[in-house]
Formats: sequence, structure tokens, C-alpha cells
Amino acid sequence: MNTYVSNLVAVRDVESLRSRIQAWRREGLSVALVPTMGALHKGHLTLMGRAQKMADRVVATIFVNPKQFGPNEDFAAYPRCESEDFEMLNGAGVHLLFAPDAAVMYPPGFATTVSVAGLTDVLDGAHRAGHFDGVATVVSKLLLQALPDIALFGEKDFQQLAVIKRVVADLNIPVDIIGVPTVRDADGLAMSSRNAYLTPDERALAPKLFAAITQAAAAISEGGDIQECIDTARAGILKAGFRSVDYVEARHAETLATLETAREPGRVLAAAHLGRARLIDNVAIPQR
Ligand code: PAF
Repeated sequence: MNTYVSNLVAVRDVESLRSRIQAWRREGLSVALVPTMGALHKGHLTLMGRAQKMADRVVATIFVNPKQFGPNEDFAAYPRCESEDFEMLNGAGVHLLFAPDAAVMYPPGFATTVSVAGLTDVLDGAHRAGHFDGVATVVSKLLLQALPDIALFGEKDFQQLAVIKRVVADLNIPVDIIGVPTVRDADGLAMSSRNAYLTPDERALAPKLFAAITQAAAAISEGGDIQECIDTARAGILKAGFRSVDYVEARHAETLATLETAREPGRVLAAAHLGRARLIDNVAIPQR
């Protein structure tokens, strides 16, 4: 008979989350929070592993946040597999899972939105109306509910990371935000829960997005004209078989302003549609 030993505790309400975290605090233990929407993959496990190295206790959250999906987006289809996720988190040595229902996060009468100006007007913000309001609102809530010492987010969602850092600085939320480099499959495709939407043929050509932006970043670093390098990347993505490109842009790595010169810290960011999936990715422009 197989015996399944579980050390991971799952809670669904804010009071239970807080009382467990407060008990750790009384013991002098530090706490890391890793917010997710579930459908966990190796990228998430890397976040959990990094969290374990940086804090005594790791709290993961799983909440498919309706407020960050537009009316024509994939909220209903978003993969949900809580029992597999639970086993993965347990195997990874995570201590606590907070998996609230929508009614816990947004009870009747809920009326507050956290909205970040400027940073959210560009890139994904220009293509997904209201998306970053939803992200900023739910992440603010999760941080205030758990009050961890640190919270970790993947660099794959580079603009999201910038928005969250802005919220935390502006609202004086006492937590350090840690960005963790993107985890990739061997062929370069950034790990994402949405990769599950790809057919085998689409999966085979999906790494071309990473290849195109990596080439653009290298060419910009070597002194190429920024707009020409970006145009070449866009053409390459379409030629590879992507259905459409929402954006390919070179931006300042901190302010997300349009990149003027390769001497500034820069990033090439892209979003493109392949079959049912909308893939996003970004890479640093190497500094010479
Ligand atoms: O990156 C994600 O999975 C989500 O946007 C986050 C940060 C968990 C907020 O819902």
C-alpha cells in the first residue's frame, strides 16, 4: 500500500493564513510568499526553491484571479489542477498553501482597485485593458493578507514585476520583491502554464519567439539600429508561423520607457499569438 505523507497545509481563508504566519513570526521565523495562479510547472518550482533558500517558511498561493482577465480572454479555459499542484508543492517542501475562493478575495461590496499609471499604458497594458489593475489589486491583497518578508515573481512577466515593485514602493507595503530569472525548456521556450494550449506542431515552433528577441537583443548590443533590429525580430516571428504579433519592443529595463540607446539597461519584450496561445517573453540586452 502506498502511503502519501503530506507536510503541506492548505488554508482557504485569510484568518487561518494570518494565524499560521503569525505563529511563525512569534518563533522568529522569516516568511516568503510565492503568488501563483496554479497549473504549476518547473518555473514555479524554481520560485519555490529560491524562496526556501531565502526564508525559513514558504507560503504559496493559488488563485485564478478573474480581475486580471479581459472579457474575451481565457479565464474559463485557464488550466486548473489543484490536486496535482498540491502534490508538487508538497514535494517541493512548501509549508503552507493559501487557495482562496473568489468570494474570499472579492466578497460582496468589494469596490477597491489598485491602478498604476504610466507603466501600465505600454506593452501588455496597451493590449490587455484592465489586466494590470487586476494584477495590482490581487497582489496588493495577497501581500497585505500574508505580510511576508519577501515575495517572489518570475521575470517572464517582466512588466508585471515592474508594476508590483511600483505598487509596493508607492503603498509602503513592507515586503521585498524578488525577481527570479525565467526558466526555459531546453529549446529556449519560456515555461508558462499557457504552453498547455499549444499543439505539438505549435510547440515545435514556439521557441522561435525567444530566438527572435535574443537575436534582436544581441544586434542592439552590437550597435545595430534599435528600430531595425526590432522590425527584423517582428518579421522573423511572423515568418516562423505565429498568427500575429501584439508587440516587439526595446524598453528601458527599469522605467519601461522606449529605449534610446544600447548604453541604457535594456530589455527586448514581445507578445505574439500562436494557435490558441498568446505567448510573452523578454530578454536582457547584453551590456558591452
Ligand atoms: O503571474 C501570475 O501568476 C499572476 O499574475 C499573479 C502574480 C499570481 C497574480 O494573479
